[in-house]
Amino acid sequence: MDVQAIKRTFGIIGTDPELDRAIGIAAQVAATDLTVLITGESGTGKDVFPKIIHQNSARKHGQYFAVNCGAIPEGTIDSELFGHEKGAFTGAVGERKGYFEIADKGTLFLDEVGELPLSTQARLLRVLENGEFIRVGGSKVMKTDVRIVAATNVDLPLAIERGRFREDLYYRLNTIPIHIPALRERKGDIPLLFRKFAADFAERNHIPAITMTPEAMKMMENYRWDGNVRQLKNITEQISIMETERTITPETLAKYLPVKTQSSLPVLLPREETPDGMSERDLLYRVLFDMKKDIAELRAQVNNMNAGRPVEQNYVQSSPVTQIGDTVVTRVNQSEHEETEPEFAEFVPAEETHYTSGTTTETLSLEHHEREMIIKALEAHRGKRKDAAKALGISERTLYRKINEYGIDL
Ligand SMILES: Nc1ncnc2c1ncn2[C@@H]1O[C@H](COP(=O)(O)OP(=O)(O)O)[C@@H](O)[C@H]1O
Ligand SMILES: [Mg+2]
Repeated sequence: MDVQAIKRTFGIIGTDPELDRAIGIAAQVAATDLTVLITGESGTGKDVFPKIIHQNSARKHGQYFAVNCGAIPEGTIDSELFGHEKGAFTGAVGERKGYFEIADKGTLFLDEVGELPLSTQARLLRVLENGEFIRVGGSKVMKTDVRIVAATNVDLPLAIERGRFREDLYYRLNTIPIHIPALRERKGDIPLLFRKFAADFAERNHIPAITMTPEAMKMMENYRWDGNVRQLKNITEQISIMETERTITPETLAKYLPVKTQSSLPVLLPREETPDGMSERDLLYRVLFDMKKDIAELRAQVNNMNAGRPVEQNYVQSSPVTQIGDTVVTRVNQSEHEETEPEFAEFVPAEETHYTSGTTTETLSLEHHEREMIIKALEAHRGKRKDAAKALGISERTLYRKINEYGIDL
């Protein structure tokens, strides 16, 4: 099958060259028995790749099994994967075949492979190297012929560094790497995906499809989409249900796009230390502190200007700093969490969605503020990034990232 045929067959939307390339690699290696490792952020669309590989291989009449390694408790994962003998542990009343045995001559998809405990990683390495495994509680060496496709959204080299993932297993799994780009790296696909999700939802529910004004579509294209395609799909469906007006404006859209400060503050590289030894988290607090002062001043000015006008007309009247602070802190915790906890539920934006336009406005101004600070620092140091980074108290790497992110062109 060629790339276009695969897209049609598997319902993959998008024309991004990187995505096409990923599909092309999958098609090309399908016929071999090589191990494939699919990497990409959560929600980028990894799940369809092992299916493409299986369906385009000589194993397509064999079994296809998908195992979410992060969803199986550590105590039972070896038994699930490799089976167990009768009496192997309390409760093992009979023998049981594992997925490696059942999927013999087929394909096994090991999703969230980065979540495997180290002891299981050792067993997995062995079976990958010579097709041999031993059931839990058994002694007989068994043989299997399984093609492995693995996927992960964690940074495995980092996990190796932290002693959480075996390096030898990584190289063995990574024979053929396929990387799925984040949605923010293929902005051109956003309108296509939106239209498809809006149309599908409308058809299923017998309602007219929503459309975006050109400005709202621009906003969609510039949003970060930390939950990638999954998040885009969920938000499109939420708006489709909630809004009676079928043409969506930026104001309406803003109510649904969760405010993620991750993108706007130099905080989420916790391992990165700045030259003067401050952690990025410390820097965040410094930035927030400065901003708090600015907002207080702004508020005072607005209050003066609006003396006598009713309070509700005034965005800055809500307590933005606490709000921003809470959001940031929550986000930091969550992102630490994501590294250890698998995400196997569909993206649930409810808790992270801030429906007040006040919060959105504040965060936009937060980003604006940061952008301004960076531009000023660059101008003051005649475009020398090293010096500008130092003045801002952030690392050069962070500055570089932010220049790209904000499209600063000096
Ligand atoms: N290119 C795409 N075209 C259509 N739907 C997509 C595309 N990419 C992802 N999806 C949909 O987005 C959701 C998340 O994809 P999934 O493969 O589960 O992500 P991942 O496994 O990378 O976390 C699924 O509902 C999937 O069908
Ligand atoms: Mg997945």
